[in-house]
Amino acid sequence: MDLSPGALILCFLLCSVAAEPPVVSVEPRFAAVRQGESVSFRCQARSNVQPVRLEWKKANNQPFLDNVKIGPDGSMLTVANVRPGNQGQYRCVAISSAGRSFANAALNVRHVPKIQLTPAGPLQVRLGDPVSVECKATGRPRPTVAWQRQGSTIQLVTEERNDVNVLKWPAIRPEDSGVYVCQAGNNVGASEARIEITVEGPPGAPVASVNIAEMTVIEGQTVTMECQASGSPPPEISWSKLRAPLPWRHTVAGGVLTLTSVGRQDSGQYICNATNINGYSEAYTQMEVETPPYATCLPDQVKLKPGDALVVQCLAHGSHPITFTWARVGRAGLPAAAVATADGRLTIARVKQNDSGTYKCVATNHIGSSEAQAKVMIKA
Ligand SMILES: *[C@@H]1O[C@H](CO)[C@@H](O)[C@H](O)[C@H]1NC(C)=O
Ligand SMILES: *[C@@H]1O[C@H](CO)[C@@H](O)[C@H](O)[C@H]1NC(C)=O
Repeated sequence: MDLSPGALILCFLLCSVAAEPPVVSVEPRFAAVRQGESVSFRCQARSNVQPVRLEWKKANNQPFLDNVKIGPDGSMLTVANVRPGNQGQYRCVAISSAGRSFANAALNVRHVPKIQLTPAGPLQVRLGDPVSVECKATGRPRPTVAWQRQGSTIQLVTEERNDVNVLKWPAIRPEDSGVYVCQAGNNVGASEARIEITVEGPPGAPVASVNIAEMTVIEGQTVTMECQASGSPPPEISWSKLRAPLPWRHTVAGGVLTLTSVGRQDSGQYICNATNINGYSEAYTQMEVETPPYATCLPDQVKLKPGDALVVQCLAHGSHPITFTWARVGRAGLPAAAVATADGRLTIARVKQNDSGTYKCVATNHIGSSEAQAKVMIKA
């Protein structure tokens, strides 16, 4: 064959380039969106063989949901109003006469947890029966799941396996009657579901209930707790304290327990016990007594020589958290070399003569504050 020089050059350019399958890419390669948002992926193909046809599919070959649309030229895949079922890998396939190639994009759908309770409730159970309620929560990211009793933060017995949190009683008691809430949350949001559980005792057995499951009071206050009980014959009501006698300043009248001028040591769980010939039932009130701080300085007097180190610790009893501040009595501020730490310690690495004086620590919590002083004498 006789080729002209021009044809040779043309063939050198074209004939040396073998026909290759398209090179395909997808942008973005990963998208994490919240349920309800929209997202698009763009597919691009480079090829020395035309035409190139683009096709989108799911990497697992599942059909698209109805909210997935592909643009007219096949390059753009859009998911409008994303839902959890849209999660997965999307594959763009580029096809030419020289072959086919593909690229994947991953779509991660974040959504608020969905909760399913099994059984759904309301639940009526017999006294002493084993009872369990499963709370299954699905969400992305994976939610944390917890059970609570409505109106109480007392820890419940639960068992966690995978995405199921099981609330369980080996033998349910009358006082377990109530509303229980399963809460699930992730960084997209939170959901909850509730179930009412009624424990049925033998006929006439008492069922006790308290007017308040938890209370926080301040030292010195007078506190009342009320207990009521149904049952036949009418049950006797008594009050006691968990692992301790009742405070000596208490009275009980008609199911009402009154504690006068409570102190910190009176914090704890109080138990109402309703008893008749058919059985008994307990109900609980948890009380926390909060106290203002009481501050002391250790030491409260110190004699030093110039150049010595000063260390004074401020201590405080009372409800936490307690914050400490140090000041110098009759002066605008602490010496420049003084360091006061969050736990109430005042230090001066090397004292000077004029660091002498009275230092004051103020301990503060959300109820009140208390002051203590330390005398510092520095003599050469
Ligand atoms: C409540 O009363 C019953 C029956 O008298 C008794 O067995 C039970 O221990 C009592 N509970 C408390 C906390 O005192
Ligand atoms: C304390 O004494 C030092 C030198 O002994 C002096 O430089 C400093 O100004 C004094 N500070 C005060 C607050 O009097």
